[in-house]
Amino acid sequence: MAFADYTSRGAVAVIALKNPPVNALSLGLRTAIMDCLERATTDASIRAVVIAGSGTAFCGGADVGEFGLPTMFAAPSLADLFELIENSPKAVIAAINGVAFGGGLELAMVCHYRVASASAQLGMPEVKLGLLPGAGGTQRLPRLVGVERALNMIVSGNPVSARELARTGLLDSTADGDALPAAVAFAERVITEKLPLKKARDAKIDFPNAEAFLDFARGTVAPLSKNYPAPLKCVEAVEAAVLKPFDEGMKIEGSLFIELLNTPESKALRHAFFAMRAAAKIPDVPSSTPLRAIKSVAVVGAGTMGGGIAMNFANAGIPVTVLETAQAALDKGLATVKKNYESTLKKGRLTQDEFDKRVKQISGTLSYEDIKDADLVIEAVFEDIQVKRQVFEKLDKVVKSGAILASNTSTLDVNKIAGFTQRPQDVIGLHFFSPANVSKLLEIVRGAKTAKDVVATSMAVSKQIKKVGVISGVCDGFIGNRMMNAYFRQMELLLDVGALPQQIDKAMEKFGFAMGPFRVSDLAGNDILWYIRKRLYVEYPDRVFSKTPDRICELGRFGQKTGAGWYDYKAGDRAPIPSELVNKIVLEESAKLGIARRKVSDEEIVQRALYSLINEGARILEEGIALRASDIDVVYLTGYGFPDFRGGPLFYADTVGIPNVLRAMREFARGYQPDAWEPAPLLSKLASEGKTFANWVDT
Ligand SMILES: NC(=O)c1ccc[n+]([C@@H]2O[C@H](COP(=O)([O-])OP(=O)(O)OC[C@H]3O[C@@H](n4cnc5c(N)ncnc54)[C@H](O)[C@@H]3O)[C@@H](O)[C@H]2O)c1
Repeated sequence: MAFADYTSRGAVAVIALKNPPVNALSLGLRTAIMDCLERATTDASIRAVVIAGSGTAFCGGADVGEFGLPTMFAAPSLADLFELIENSPKAVIAAINGVAFGGGLELAMVCHYRVASASAQLGMPEVKLGLLPGAGGTQRLPRLVGVERALNMIVSGNPVSARELARTGLLDSTADGDALPAAVAFAERVITEKLPLKKARDAKIDFPNAEAFLDFARGTVAPLSKNYPAPLKCVEAVEAAVLKPFDEGMKIEGSLFIELLNTPESKALRHAFFAMRAAAKIPDVPSSTPLRAIKSVAVVGAGTMGGGIAMNFANAGIPVTVLETAQAALDKGLATVKKNYESTLKKGRLTQDEFDKRVKQISGTLSYEDIKDADLVIEAVFEDIQVKRQVFEKLDKVVKSGAILASNTSTLDVNKIAGFTQRPQDVIGLHFFSPANVSKLLEIVRGAKTAKDVVATSMAVSKQIKKVGVISGVCDGFIGNRMMNAYFRQMELLLDVGALPQQIDKAMEKFGFAMGPFRVSDLAGNDILWYIRKRLYVEYPDRVFSKTPDRICELGRFGQKTGAGWYDYKAGDRAPIPSELVNKIVLEESAKLGIARRKVSDEEIVQRALYSLINEGARILEEGIALRASDIDVVYLTGYGFPDFRGGPLFYADTVGIPNVLRAMREFARGYQPDAWEPAPLLSKLASEGKTFANWVDT
């Protein structure tokens, strides 16, 4: 495959990068650019060179897939290529259309001139993978856009439009449309006007009081990046650009990059990046599977979830009809949706025009007649199998053939629901998470009879509404809630032996969770978890649960919505206040069980929490409920506030070492309620074979 095209337009050679989808600078592409450049150098008729992208990108950056592999630094390395471009005897001009990110922007900066389409996006996203721009980006960007702006771009990782950068030294010209003809014209000007071959490395940084500014920057960045080493290293690298000669700065940047490359945080963030991409791949559903067209959607039920689900489609420009049983419920649901949009409008995150459009996309009805032509129907009624039966039997009768019939059930058997219809092949679970218009995760629950094109279409829909779709098989709680049930049960049992809710929450938050389990519970509603537990008591009579959570619920302490739960709350304030009453109940329950309470360390809390997730995750994996270990990580990263710098529960298991996880589990099994610590067979197998979750997928 040719990674780059070489053509000439008079005295200007054009090298077009051809490495879809984003022209990542893989070894193949680096070699191709080198070859083209050498050809231009040796061709006497060529006097300037334009490097352009193709497709939607100039260049999306280094090939992240090469990170940590020998090809990453194999010759020609990025440094080799950049040296050749910068020292080229003929002018090299970058033509930037689409995106120039990371290594792509670094490539542009070693060119002598840069011409961009005004709509192009330029950025340094490395920090989001726990890294910094390691091919001169931290040294050249401050020289071209100024220290302050460069630091912002490098530390935030957020892109900036060419329009905004037009008056900086980064861009020599911007074009309203295609940058390529403008860059060729610019190259001709360089030739005729004999413009010098400008090198970013030679630009002077004139920044009085740099040290004070950098100190200030460090002071601002440090508290915002507690668990992430990269942002402070970015400041350090930019500091080198300001205070040291260019070559010395490059050395400092290089060693900081290698340091970051080997941090567990960067490894975890890179794992998360690849895991998200991998989740869209379904082994027996090829990407060429024809999709069903989804042009209109219906949502049944306008409660907590229904309204949020409808918003996702309205936001994506797809009309939605919401169906309810009574006018009052419908009005209430639609009013909540409108209120949500109004609050976004007030915050300035939505224009009036967008607001009008989105609100208009959502209509309400009490009649099935109005949803019979929908391409996709998502049911979000009460979590009661008889209510679901009524709805699906009705949908089966009225909705056009070929439509996808989805259920948002959290716990019910999707196969059973599919069985309420004569078309189980069209039925699937689309499990949104609360708040449904915000949470990134969408579990796509594949029933035994779900057709492949329904699965493929659901995955495509998840992308369209900007969610991360993860395939799950049918089981109690699917991937996420099944693991969460095991985790919550462990945390509640820990109350019996000696911990208090606020201690457990603090330990989990210190580990990096957005919220500890009891705060999550107060937010989600303790009554919802109570409802699930009551079912589990019947279905798993041998499983022992702590009695404390039920006692909290019996007092009507359902969490934030009732003003009290595991914590007390002041009116109108969501800040949790440790509750004396709850602590008293916890102690009473220990006494009733005859347990002499002991000190539980934060380390033990985190181990019990994580290892219960890991053990259940291993079962889910070996039962084939999840397609791959990394999908389980994605579920936790996108739907459960798992810290991204830890990579997800199964990645974390590999980091700790599976034999170490098992050793701790055996220790726990010698204590209180040992049944939870029966190791999943897959865990024991991986440990005995010296394997990890990551390479179990490979085999
Ligand atoms: N709340 C959550 O956090 C959450 C998260 C994920 C999934 N779910 C699932 O989503 C579904 C809905 O949950 P919710 O929290 O939105 O419930 P909810 O009680 O807030 O809303 C349910 C709505 O469905 C309506 N309804 C009931 N029967 C109906 C029928 N036959 N036809 C039309 N409308 C009907 C009710 O009037 C109500 O407005 C459940 O299956 C639940 O398990 C909930």
